[in-house]
Amino acid sequence: MGFSKLFIVLFILQAFLTMATTRSFAPKSNLFREYIGAEGNNIRFSDVPINHNVEFHYILAFAVDYTNSSYPLPTNGIFKKFWDTDNLSPFQVSSIKNQHGNVKVALSLGGDTVRGGQTCNFSVSSVDSWVSNAVSSLTEIIQEYNLDGIDIDYEHFHEDANTFAECIGKLVTTLKNNGVISLASIAPFEDDEVQRHYLALWKSYGHVIDYVNFQFYAYDKRTSVSQFIKYFQKQSKNYGGGSILASFTTEGHGGLSPKNGFFTACRRLKSQGKLGGIFVWSADDSKDSGFGYEKESQALLAKRH
Ligand SMILES: *[C@@H]1O[C@H](CO)[C@@H](O)[C@H](O)[C@H]1NC(C)=O
Ligand SMILES: *[C@@H]1O[C@H](CO)[C@@H](O)[C@H](O)[C@H]1NC(C)=O
Repeated sequence: MGFSKLFIVLFILQAFLTMATTRSFAPKSNLFREYIGAEGNNIRFSDVPINHNVEFHYILAFAVDYTNSSYPLPTNGIFKKFWDTDNLSPFQVSSIKNQHGNVKVALSLGGDTVRGGQTCNFSVSSVDSWVSNAVSSLTEIIQEYNLDGIDIDYEHFHEDANTFAECIGKLVTTLKNNGVISLASIAPFEDDEVQRHYLALWKSYGHVIDYVNFQFYAYDKRTSVSQFIKYFQKQSKNYGGGSILASFTTEGHGGLSPKNGFFTACRRLKSQGKLGGIFVWSADDSKDSGFGYEKESQALLAKRH
C-alpha cells in the first residue's frame, strides 16, 4: 500500500472514529418534557401542543407516600396518586399515546408539599421495607396507567443522603430490571441539603438514571443568559455524564424566563451539543396563556441545528 493510500485509509478511519465519539457523547437534544396534573384545574394531555419532531414526555405530578387525610401520615413507601386522576386517567394516557407515537408518560414522586402547605418529607422505616412497599405500590400504578418511567422529586428529607440514595437507587434498579419502567429521571435544584442527597444518589446509581431535570427556575429570577450558561455547566459537571435538561417555569417567576433569554441560552447550549432537552413546570400553569413557550421550546428542539 502506497503512502497516499495509507493516508486516505487513516483519514477515513479517523472520520469514523470522530463520528462514533460525537454520536455516543452528544446528548439527545430533541427531548421535551412537561409536568402536568398537580393543580387540579382540569388540564388534559390533549391541551398541550405536541410537535411530531421531538420526543415528548408528560410527567404526572405527583405520587406520594402519604395518607390523604387532613393530617397526612407517611406510609413508608406505599404510594398513592395525588394528581388529577379524573382528567388524566388510564384511558387518557392510552389515547394520547395512540394518537402520538412520540409520546411517553412518566410519574413523578414527591414534590414540594402534600395537600397544600405541609412539606412532603422523604422518610422511611427501613431501607428494605420502604423499597419493597415502593416497588409493589408503584408497579400497580404504573401498570394500571401504562406509564413508561418515574421521576424523583423529593425536596425535603428526614433521612441522610446515603439512605435516600440506597432507597431510590434500589427502587429504580428493581423497576427497570422487572421491565416495569424504561426511563428514570431526577429533579434536583441548587440547595445544599437537596444537592447532598441527589449527588449521593448520582454517585452510586447514576448509571440507572437517564435524565437530570435540573430545576433551573429555582435560581434567582434575575438570572442572565451568561449566568444561566454557567449554572448549566456547573450542574453538567456535578452530574457528570448525565443528560441535563434546561428548564423554565410558567408558575410565577424564577431563573431565566423565556422573556429574558431562556431560548438564546438553549440555542447556545444546543449548538455546543450540551443540551439534553427542555422541561417545563407546568402544563397546569400554562393552560390559560396558550402554551406559546411550549411551542417555541419544541420548535427549537426539533430544528436540526
Ligand atoms: C384527597 O382528599 C381530598 C378531600 O378529602 C379529595 O378532594 C381528593 O380527591 C383526595 N385525593 C386523593 C388522591 O385521594
Ligand atoms: C414534614 O416535616 C416537617 C418538619 O420537618 C413537618 O413540619 C411537616 O408537617 C411534615 N410533613 C407532613 C406532611 O407530615
